[in-house]
Amino acid sequence: MREINASIPFDKALWRQDIAGSRAHVAMLAAQGIVSPEDARAIDEGLQSIAAEYERDGVPEDWDLEDIHMTVESRLAELVGPVAGRLHTARSRNDQVATDFKLWMREAMLRAEAGIESLQRALVMRAEEHADTIMPGFTHLQTAQPVTLGHHLLAYYEMTRRDRSRFADARARMDECPLGSAALAGTGFPIDREATAKALGFARPTRNSLDAVSDRDFAMDYLAAASQCAIHLSRLAEELIIWASQPFGFVRMPDTLSTGSSIMPQKKNPDAAELVRGHAGRIIGCATALMVTMKGLPLAYSKDMQDDKPPVFEAAGLLDLCLAAAAGMIADSRFEVTRMRQAAELGYATATDLADWLVREADIPFREAHHITGAAVRLAESRGVALDALSLDELTAIDARIEQRVFAALSVDASVAARASYGGTAPDQVRQRVAEARSELGIDE
Ligand code: ARG
Repeated sequence: MREINASIPFDKALWRQDIAGSRAHVAMLAAQGIVSPEDARAIDEGLQSIAAEYERDGVPEDWDLEDIHMTVESRLAELVGPVAGRLHTARSRNDQVATDFKLWMREAMLRAEAGIESLQRALVMRAEEHADTIMPGFTHLQTAQPVTLGHHLLAYYEMTRRDRSRFADARARMDECPLGSAALAGTGFPIDREATAKALGFARPTRNSLDAVSDRDFAMDYLAAASQCAIHLSRLAEELIIWASQPFGFVRMPDTLSTGSSIMPQKKNPDAAELVRGHAGRIIGCATALMVTMKGLPLAYSKDMQDDKPPVFEAAGLLDLCLAAAAGMIADSRFEVTRMRQAAELGYATATDLADWLVREADIPFREAHHITGAAVRLAESRGVALDALSLDELTAIDARIEQRVFAALSVDASVAARASYGGTAPDQVRQRVAEARSELGIDE
C-alpha cells in the first residue's frame, strides 16, 4: 500500500505551488476570523521556512507521508507545533491538489508560449533573410512548383501562431480557483473564496465544488495543445532531416545540434531533429494516458486522478526541450541556397507556368494547356534538359501558338514572382507577411 499510494516521488514538483496555496489559505482564514492572527502568523512563518529548506536541500521523499501536501504539513508540525493542524481547516487535499496543479499548469503554459515565441522569432528572421531564396515546393514529396524558402518558413510561423493561441486559450479557460471547494461539497466555515482566488492570481473562484475537485480539463487542454504543437515541430524536424541528407543537401544543421558517428568519420547526424520528431510520439502518448485515466471516472475525486501528474510533467519537459531545439535549429542552420535553386530548376517545376502562359497569352482552355505542357515536359525529359532549354522550334512543333516570349515565364524566378496572390509565395508577398509577423512579435525595425 505504501508503494502504490505514494505520489511524493513525482508530486514533490508541486512544492512551490503547494506552499503558495497554503499561505493564501491561512491568510484568508485569519482575515475571516477562522484562525487567530497569531496562529496564522506562526503558520505562515513556518511555511516560509519550509520553502527556504526545500529551495536549499530539495524536498525529502518519505513514502509514509504519501504526497507533497502531507509532507509539507508534517514538516510544519515539526516546526511550529500543534498549531500547524489549523492550516487544514476548511479545505481538503482534493481542492488543494487541484489548485496546486492548476498553478503549475499555468506556468507550463506560459513557458510553452514563450518557447513558441522564441521559435517564431527565429522563423521570421530567417524568412526575411530568405524571402528571395528559391527552392522546390513539393506535393507528395515530388517537385511541384518553385517556392521561396521564406514562404516555406512562414508556413511554420502560421502553425506556431495557432499553437500559441491554443495555450493562451487554455490558460484563460482554467482561470478559476478550486480552493475552498474542500473535499467535494464546499465547507461550513465562512471562507472568502474571492480572496484566495485573487491572492493566487485567478480571475475568480470555481462555481461548482464537485466539478472543481474532479476537473482535469486544464491538464488535458495542455496536453492536447502540446500534442498539436509537437506534431508541428515533428513535421519541421522531418523536413530538416530530409533537407540535411546528402542527396538533398539543402541545409547544414548547426554542429551544436548534431552528433558524429562513432564509426563513420564523415557522418553528421541530425539527432536533435530526430529527437524532436520522436518526442512528438511520447507527448501524444502522455495526452492519451491522461484521457484514458479520466474517461468514465464518477464524480468527485478518485485516486486514479493522482496519475494525472506524471504524463503532464513528462510532456511539459519534452515540449520545452523540443521548442528550444527547434528554435536553435532554425536560427543557426545554414541554408544551401545554390543547391536549393538547382533542385528547383530540375524537375520541371515551372510546367504549370507554361500551362498558365498558354491560358493567359494564347487563350487556350486550361485542360488543353495542361495537355500541351505534358507533351513539352515529355520531350524535355527524353532529351534530358530543362523546359526552358527546349528550342522555340521544338515548342512550336508541339503547339504553333507558343511564342518566343514564353521563355520569360519559364524561369524559376519568373514563376515565384508570378505567384503574388494574397498568401502566395512571391518574394513581395513574403516580405509583407514578414512585416506583419514582425509587428505581431514586437520585433523593432
Ligand atoms: N496525492 C493526491 C493526488 O495527487 C492528493 C489528493 C488526495 N486526496 C485524497 N482524498 N486521498 O491526487
